[in-house]
Amino acid sequence: MKDLITLAIETSCDETAVAIVKNGRDVLSNIIDTQIPIHTKFGGVVPEVASRNHIQNINDVCKKAINDANINFDDIDFISVANRPGLVGSLLVGVSFAKSLAFALDKPIVAVHHIRAHICANYIAHKELKPPFLCLVVSGGHSHIVKVEDYTKYIVLGKTRDDAVGEAFDKVARCLELGYPGGPKIDNLAKEGNENAIDFPKAHFENSLDFSFSGIKSAVLNYINTMKMKNIKVNRADVAASFQKAVISVLCENLIKSAKELNIKDIAIAGGVSANSYLRDTLTAICEQEKLKLYYPPLSLCTDNGAMIGSCGYYEYLSGNISDMSMNAYASYDI
Ligand code: KG4
Ligand code: ZN
Repeated sequence: MKDLITLAIETSCDETAVAIVKNGRDVLSNIIDTQIPIHTKFGGVVPEVASRNHIQNINDVCKKAINDANINFDDIDFISVANRPGLVGSLLVGVSFAKSLAFALDKPIVAVHHIRAHICANYIAHKELKPPFLCLVVSGGHSHIVKVEDYTKYIVLGKTRDDAVGEAFDKVARCLELGYPGGPKIDNLAKEGNENAIDFPKAHFENSLDFSFSGIKSAVLNYINTMKMKNIKVNRADVAASFQKAVISVLCENLIKSAKELNIKDIAIAGGVSANSYLRDTLTAICEQEKLKLYYPPLSLCTDNGAMIGSCGYYEYLSGNISDMSMNAYASYDI
């Protein structure tokens, strides 16, 4: 079969990213312009600021992606773009840019689901990985256990009923005055703390693989406030380590439970929180013990990037899921 090259665009949150991907698995270039330093000042992502920065950056990021891949626009077979879920104002920048390119180059355009794309980051890192497998998708907006039945067929087995796990990391980090984004900061600080120092609550639902992280977030806040009222110095490393242990253990328990129930041996993790070192270490140990094969992307492909959009776009394209100029952007959308 002829090689298929896609130019893939990601602007769902605070990264302006464009990648060139061949056959869904080979990354020819992957340019990411992060706005983290801009949003850090506000303690989190400000949607309008994010959209305005995407508009300023996208042209240069796209040019760099083409140059780095050493290709011409003529070499591109189709355009892939994340159009759901995410910040609508941000997504619309990517979608409009993709439509203009597709129109100017007279190429097909493929709409990509951002969460599906996070899962597909594993195809880039592990050439042998193919469906079916189970994936824990944990990001700033999502916490799902997904059965990947086929390249474009996904079944949600469990998901959060309130906050996403990344959101909980970010909020707890804010309470601990660690700055934004909180996940990596908690990950690092927790290494110096005692994970058994504080017994934070873990939510479980009967006969369900769903999660809930709002309770533990409030428990951390209450703990910090109570300590302050009593004039006792909060050991931030202990709070970070105990919070992280509680959250990660629920994620791992539900994931392994579903793998056993469905008798699936291949497990993957994806999304920003899959960069967490405690999650990786804990799951690696459990999977070794349970004789399961664990896949995870390199750190650079865990958080938002264009390469994962290109991988997902390839499989959508092969399935005939081609979009047109009526493509819209959506804040939320089932996987
Ligand atoms: O996938 P992502 O880049 O964007 C969304 O689609 O949401 O995920 C961002 C989230 C943030 O909440 C960030 O704090 C979290 O991923 N994150 C981490 C780590 N690195 C990023 N959470 C825990 N540990 C990390 N090392
Ligand atoms: Zn993401």
